[in-house]
Amino acid sequence: MYFSGIQPTGKMHLGNYLGAVRNWVKLQQPGNQNIYCIVDLHALTDKLTIDHEIKFNLNTKSDTLSLAATLIASGINYKQSIFFVQSHVPEHAELQWILSCIAPQNWLNKMTQYKDKKKEYSTLGLYTYPLLMAADIILYQAQYVPVGLDQKQHIELTRDYVQRLNSLFKLNIIEPQYLESTCPKIMSLRDGNKKMSKSDTNDGNRINIDDSKEEIFEKIKRSKTDSIPQIYFDQEQRPEISNLLRIYQAFSNMSMEQIINKYMTKTTVDFKRDLSELIANELNTIAEKKKQILENQSELEQILKQGSLKAREIAQQNLKLIKTNVGL
Ligand code: ADP
Ligand code: NA
Repeated sequence: MYFSGIQPTGKMHLGNYLGAVRNWVKLQQPGNQNIYCIVDLHALTDKLTIDHEIKFNLNTKSDTLSLAATLIASGINYKQSIFFVQSHVPEHAELQWILSCIAPQNWLNKMTQYKDKKKEYSTLGLYTYPLLMAADIILYQAQYVPVGLDQKQHIELTRDYVQRLNSLFKLNIIEPQYLESTCPKIMSLRDGNKKMSKSDTNDGNRINIDDSKEEIFEKIKRSKTDSIPQIYFDQEQRPEISNLLRIYQAFSNMSMEQIINKYMTKTTVDFKRDLSELIANELNTIAEKKKQILENQSELEQILKQGSLKAREIAQQNLKLIKTNVGL
């Protein structure tokens, strides 16, 4: 069983697509059970952030519908996979509470995502984010979790919780495994030290699924590269061009060797133009489909409701088992 989730914060971007979503689509094969979730409760850690200026973003519901449409347009098959919204299945929050009562606090202190994201006014929700993620996974007894590299540590933490639950309460829950895509970490376009992210305030750092062809060309053109004119892959010495090459490879299905040969005598400008074309072809098709799907909002809501009913059936069964064993 494959389980994964994505937050309805900001706009879905190229990193989400190549690092996670395209892999989710590929994993939808006969014989596989796939459960994909829009994790709106996780998104509250961003949307209800208390900062110096308190500015709440209360658009989670419409952002959820927009993301649902994007995911279906990307190839998530809601008939074959279970596709639903986290807050429609209250068992996620319930299991999180139980986990929080068996989880040593110092396990959470080690989480690098929290260390990166925390600010002066960070909430408890941001801190316990990995607990909710563990609950998401354990609730369906997922075996594989296809996510980007930034989430690997959270999967390892989930394994620790599973081991603890199993040994303390004589349970037999499956230990989930991190499943990597071919692009586990797409970097920001102008800041090679940061991963491409929805929460990045600089839109030029990221390609959004909804970007127009012109925006994609402009962003790739302005993406940071070094002064070496040749095009070749070298992750250590040349992280920026290597990031672009990896994206090229993902969209072209060519081998790295074929790509390097193709651009041997060409310029970075040529390479960037062809890359933009490849990206725009695939993403613009998705954006077009998304628009059509969003035109029928009630149908989309119905799809998500059906998905949550199916998810809830599994969640309730697994939660019941855990509750019984912890003495509830
Ligand atoms: P974000 O971090 O952009 O807010 P989410 O937390 O909703 O996105 O993550 C959704 C999925 O996309 C996760 O599996 C995450 O690991 C993956 N992901 C996010 N950013 C990247 C990236 N830059 N490269 C590869 N995968 C990514
Ligand atoms: Na993330």
